[in-house]
Amino acid sequence: MSNPRRVRAALVGAGRMAGTHARVLEMVPAIQLCAVCDPVPENAARLAETLGVPAQTLTTVLADPDIDAVILVTPTPTHAALIRQAAGAGKHVFVEKPVAGTLAEADEVIKVVKRAGVQCQVGFQRRFDPAYAEAKRAIGAGELGRLATFRGVSRDPTPPPLDFLKTSGGLMVDLGVHDLDTMRFLVGEVAEVRAVGAVQRLPELAEFGLFDSAVATVSFENGALGTLELGLHTAYGYDIRAEVLGERGRLHLEMDSPLHLTRYTAEGAVKRPPRGFEERFFAAYVAEFTAFARCLLTGQPVSPDAEDAARTLKLALAAQHALETGETVHVASFAEKDKVGA
Ligand SMILES: NC(=O)c1ccc[n+]([C@@H]2O[C@H](COP(=O)([O-])OP(=O)(O)OC[C@H]3O[C@@H](n4cnc5c(N)ncnc54)[C@H](O)[C@@H]3O)[C@@H](O)[C@H]2O)c1
Repeated sequence: MSNPRRVRAALVGAGRMAGTHARVLEMVPAIQLCAVCDPVPENAARLAETLGVPAQTLTTVLADPDIDAVILVTPTPTHAALIRQAAGAGKHVFVEKPVAGTLAEADEVIKVVKRAGVQCQVGFQRRFDPAYAEAKRAIGAGELGRLATFRGVSRDPTPPPLDFLKTSGGLMVDLGVHDLDTMRFLVGEVAEVRAVGAVQRLPELAEFGLFDSAVATVSFENGALGTLELGLHTAYGYDIRAEVLGERGRLHLEMDSPLHLTRYTAEGAVKRPPRGFEERFFAAYVAEFTAFARCLLTGQPVSPDAEDAARTLKLALAAQHALETGETVHVASFAEKDKVGA
């Protein structure tokens, strides 16, 4: 590490999520952003100007001995190749979810990161949200007793652009991967998954075999059962929920749990839901980057790492396969060759 108290990092990818991370990283003093890279020069220049850092090529960034880490905020199909390049140059990696687009790529990522001796943390920010972290602690301490059911809901207010969705891997891999990771984080490994989907609001998705709405049911290895509901278009805002029921009670993580403001007007009481992921999970993004920096500076292992995230990817690909085929998928034995069209 070039400075024992600060991680010097470059932001790779300057699109939608990079804008959020740029604002988040202003709140993380242990990370100093030094450069922005994006093959689209306008994207790179816009964000570089906002941040007051140079727009550089990836080659320049990777050759710079003063840069310790890269923060990859690029489309999912680019993740594995970028991790390979960064690890090969000895840079630590923070990569947005999912770790890669396929299981073969995820396996390769695990190997290259290990071989290079660098750390690779994957962006499952919900694990760092104070409510999710407390739920994890309470469940681990046995406060719910034996777990019975999990209920998850993820509703985006508006969908990402169609070009993004076409290469995103599908609803279970792009949006559902967060809930499927939460299932693993709070309840345990999933044994089987089934799913149904529909195009309810966005007819332009149909010709690409994509869904805007889906419901999955899962059976956990520990005997618990779960449901997950996903939607890409929601009239009232960003709605993320999780509930875990056990023999002694239940934990309910709601969209508005950190927002304690209710407005009372002539129309009645109004609790405004968050507008999107940045508003709902801002503190969680700050916490995940703070943890990433702490691990790099102290040499402790990051979490979730590539191996952990590869298990979530396998579950998400299995759920996507269930959604596309109507089959019940046994997660442990799911292989890429089982995929539709493989
Ligand atoms: N954790 C979350 O809450 C969350 C939310 C949204 C998106 N994401 C993830 O963030 C990632 C990016 O999503 P987005 O919505 O910002 O996409 P986007 O399409 O808006 O932006 C991607 C940017 O990456 C650039 N890019 C493409 N290939 C590149 C390369 N090889 N090197 C450098 N830059 C490259 C593009 O030009 C574009 O500017 C995805 O993996 C997505 O799943 C995570």
